[in-house]
Parts: sequence; structure tokens; C-alpha cells
Amino acid sequence: MGIFPETGQGIERVSLTDKNILLGVTGGIAAYKAAELARLLVKAGARVQVAMSEAATRFVGPLTFQALSGKPVLTGLWQGEGAGMDHIHASRGTDLVLVAPASADFLAKLAQGRADDLLSALCLARACPLAVAPAMNREMWAAAATQRNLVQLRADGVHVLGPAAGEQACGETGPGRMLEPAELMAALPGLLGAGLLAGARVVVTAGPTYEPVDPVRGLTNLSSGRMGYAVAQAAAEAGATVCLVSGPTCLATPPGVRRVDVRTAHQMHAAVLAELPCDVFIAVAAVADYRSDSAAPQKIKKDTGGLDLHLVPNPDILAEVAARPDAPFCVGFAAETERLAEYAEAKRLKKKLPLLVGNLAQDTLGQDSAELVLFDDNGAHPLPRAAKLAQARSLIAHLALLRT
Ligand code: C5P
Repeated sequence: MGIFPETGQGIERVSLTDKNILLGVTGGIAAYKAAELARLLVKAGARVQVAMSEAATRFVGPLTFQALSGKPVLTGLWQGEGAGMDHIHASRGTDLVLVAPASADFLAKLAQGRADDLLSALCLARACPLAVAPAMNREMWAAAATQRNLVQLRADGVHVLGPAAGEQACGETGPGRMLEPAELMAALPGLLGAGLLAGARVVVTAGPTYEPVDPVRGLTNLSSGRMGYAVAQAAAEAGATVCLVSGPTCLATPPGVRRVDVRTAHQMHAAVLAELPCDVFIAVAAVADYRSDSAAPQKIKKDTGGLDLHLVPNPDILAEVAARPDAPFCVGFAAETERLAEYAEAKRLKKKLPLLVGNLAQDTLGQDSAELVLFDDNGAHPLPRAAKLAQARSLIAHLALLRT
């Protein structure tokens, strides 16, 4: 049973007991919050080894971390009892390296693979997952160089946790605040491979819908369903009980996922409502916006003249689910062909979604890989092109963090 405060959303957290966590602390005012993080980690039963950059020691004394972790703090390449090999030994047997706060300078070092101090060297020498919790002034966060480094780090498989937006130590307001220690704690089980969505009921829609015009013809779109199926798989991997409501596709059901097949938007609407209440609803389907208001009972015969079809709007499943009093955590998708950020953010606000995934349809449809941007209250988070399953796993990690 979990050691974390109850989220009220049915997630059962996996224990951190006996996990070996290397907590890296770099130079920034948020270093004082890392002391609380060390305390929470120890309280949760983790074995904590702290490593500090030289700049971090200017903000908080190593003795504070030594007292909290019960172990001498690693500070320099040339000190310690590791015969000059601390940078190699430190991450051996470690389950996770978490650098919090991670300064702009440290992110730049990581992105370049530099190893000129103990913390950067041990990050390079590690074989376990690495997570960073950036903390810096909003302009430093927004700087092209920092954003370039983040794209590189994500592509290298580094988990980027946050930052949050809000008041900053410098007096400015914007993105760049380190996530609170409790928020970081909530993200750790997932990074350690534990069930990020354990105990959660997740409903995913996928594929196109098909709206009949007559018994042999209909309106549909080019959605292959691959992204939705990948999302269902990633949610199941994360420990959720997953129902996949799927329009017509030729894909195999992911392992452990229950699939409900539908054809039309109306059927998808009914199937989704039948699955409520749930904890998370992820609407990936490319639902046809319109249907013919009077599908012909027999095949329409060809004539020399034109054919007028009267189309009526379909129910917006996602908007309806998100507006319910018992609304689950809702995630939308926006496939645009231009002005992605503008249209996607407008859609997120209109449908009142905490998270929306944007992509350029022409770059994604029918492909095995996708380039995505996640939009949430903290801004836009690009996910550089990767396999759809890898993107789906990143999406699940991100939404699990937002739900906490
Ligand atoms: O409004 P738009 O169709 O662009 O919004 C896309 C998002 O809304 C997707 O997440 C899609 O699955 C969902 N949607 C829906 N029902 C509709 C139309 C879209 O659930 N009728």
C-alpha cells in the first residue's frame, strides 16, 4: 500500500522502500527545497546518497544533507574516499539519479555530455534512469539554448519533471519554479518502473469513425488508430485497467487491454458513456465531426447530376465527458495542419482540458512515429519525433505527474 498522501483518485502508489536514490543538487535558490526532498525520500524508506555541485554548496551546506541522509555528501571529483573513482562508484547499484534543482548550466552540461565535476561525471557514468527538476529564472528557462538542451535531454531519455510556473525568487513571475518536493515524490514511483497508473480505470478512444451514407458508402478519415492503441498499451503497462473504444482499424488489441469495437461517432459516444465513471479519459479518436442525417437504406444509384448530402454535427464526446460533474482527468488530441500551438491551446481551453496533445496531421497520419507537443497549464512541452509507443509512454508519465 502506498506511502504517499491519498490523492483521492484511486492511484495506489508503489513503495520507495529500499530503493537507492542518488539525489544531485546543483546551484540555485531551490537547493533549500532539496533538503526537504531528501527528508521525504528517507522517510519513504529510500536509501539516499546526495551529491552536490560546487555551486550548490554555496546555497546549502553539505552537512545539512549529511544529517538528513545519514551519509557523507559527495562534492568533488578529487575528494572523498573513493580513490578518485567516486564518479563511477556513486551510481553503481543506484535505482535512480534525480537532480533537483537542476540549473540551466547543469542542463547544458548534461546535454553536452560534459564530465568536469563529480555530479555531471556520475550522470554520464550511470546505467540507471535520470530525472531532472529544472529550476531557474523564467528568461533562462525560455532561452533558446535551454530549450534546445531540453529537446536533446528528452531525446536522450532523461525525464524532465516540471518546472512549474509562478513567483520566482528574483521577483519575476513565470515558468521556472522547481516542482515542490511532494510533487517530485509523487513522480518517482513511475520513474522507478513502478505502476504510474496502478489502480486507475482508463478509457481511451482510438481510430476513425465511419458515418454511413448508404449501405456501401460512408464518411471517414485517414486515422490509422496507431496512436490511440499505443496510448492504451502504455496505460496498461503503467498498471491501469484499460478499456479501448475503437473505431474501425486493422490493429491487434494491445496485451491486457479490453477493446470495444464501434463504427460511428454515435456508437463511440454510447460506448464511452457506458464505461463511466473512470479515472482518466484519453480521447485519441479522430471522430467525424458530421454525419449524414438520413443514411439511405439502399445503395444510392448513380445519376448524371450531382448529389446533395445534408450533414449534421456529431456529439463531441470529449467535451461532454469533460463537462460532467464526475469528470475524469481528460486528455484531448488535436491534429492540425497549421498554427499548431494557437489552435491546440484554444481547443484545450474551450474543452476545459488539463492536458492536450498537439501534432501536425500531415507529419503523423499513418506513420509509426510522431512529433508531439503537450499543452498544459504550465505551457508547451515538445516531444521530439519518436515511435508512437515511446511518445505514448511519455504522455502517460506526464499525465500521471499532472494528476498528483
Ligand atoms: O474539436 P476537435 O475534433 O478538433 O477535438 C479533437 C479532440 O476531441 C480529440 O481528442 C477527439 O478525440 C475529441 N473529439 C471527440 N468527439 C468529437 C470530436 C472530437 O471526443 N465528436
